[in-house]
Amino acid sequence: MSIELGLSGQRVVVTGASQGIGFAAARALLEEGARVVINSSQPERLARAVQALSAFGPVHGIVADLRHRADMERLIGGSAEHLGGLDVLVYVTGGPAPGRAMELDYADWQRAAELLAVSPAYLSRLAAERMVTNPRGGRIVLLGSLTMREPIPTLALSNVMRISLLGLVRTLARELGPQQVRVNGVLPGYIDTERVREIFDDTARRESTSPVEARARLEREIPLGRLGDPAELARVIAFLASDASSYVTGAVLPVDGGILRSVG
Ligand SMILES: NC(=O)c1ccc[n+]([C@@H]2O[C@H](COP(=O)([O-])OP(=O)(O)OC[C@H]3O[C@@H](n4cnc5c(N)ncnc54)[C@H](OP(=O)(O)O)[C@@H]3O)[C@@H](O)[C@H]2O)c1
Repeated sequence: MSIELGLSGQRVVVTGASQGIGFAAARALLEEGARVVINSSQPERLARAVQALSAFGPVHGIVADLRHRADMERLIGGSAEHLGGLDVLVYVTGGPAPGRAMELDYADWQRAAELLAVSPAYLSRLAAERMVTNPRGGRIVLLGSLTMREPIPTLALSNVMRISLLGLVRTLARELGPQQVRVNGVLPGYIDTERVREIFDDTARRESTSPVEARARLEREIPLGRLGDPAELARVIAFLASDASSYVTGAVLPVDGGILRSVG
């Protein structure tokens, strides 16, 4: 039996997609025949990504800072206008600065709440408003982090804010299921991107070692023995955005090479 993803012609928005996981997700969806709007907060970086991705299919860029309400409204409104509606939202955002809880001030917590807790909830709401009128409904895929299950000592902002995504996925899946809008989460472990390289630099500074040694130490902890490739995560995102996962909603799927230890 071949698996039909059914993504051809689907109208997709991928946020946080000028590089890393978002970029890889946009590429995978374009390769499956989707029409894609990508977003990031930096015009030049976004323009470069649009140019690189246009080799794989029809892609358009909209600059918007996901910490700002008006930008999110302009992003979803502009995407629906450009695509003639909306079938899929893939939500990716930037990572918060590393730090232990006692190193952070009020502005750090507030910025992280806007970026990691408010933006997925409000963007999902805006996107779902467009999807509930589709005959086929829609799909929302929210990217979270390992910290939703197992806090990492030097990523306090992520530990505290990301956990809200678990509640969001379950809440929206229940609320939007009757209108055939499926909502799922993806929980990446360590994926080889700019972001994870910053984390190795931070670990190296704190532990007086080198980024190379910090990476090697981590890889020894991962049962599969290596970081993930962004394309490996992108395939799972495409699966959740597709008809191949037609009976999956309210799920949060780890893609982590087996590093999570918790059983809950
Ligand atoms: N890589 C991993 O192993 C890993 C593991 C767990 C969780 N995560 C999380 O997954 C997300 C993506 O990870 P990544 O590794 O792909 O990170 P990345 O390489 O740093 O990419 C982050 C993307 O988000 C965009 N972005 C940042 N701030 C934004 C904002 N305010 N509004 C709109 N776009 C924004 C960036 O584009 P511009 O700078 O152009 O705006 C960039 O395209 C992050 O939240 C990260 O914390 C990553």
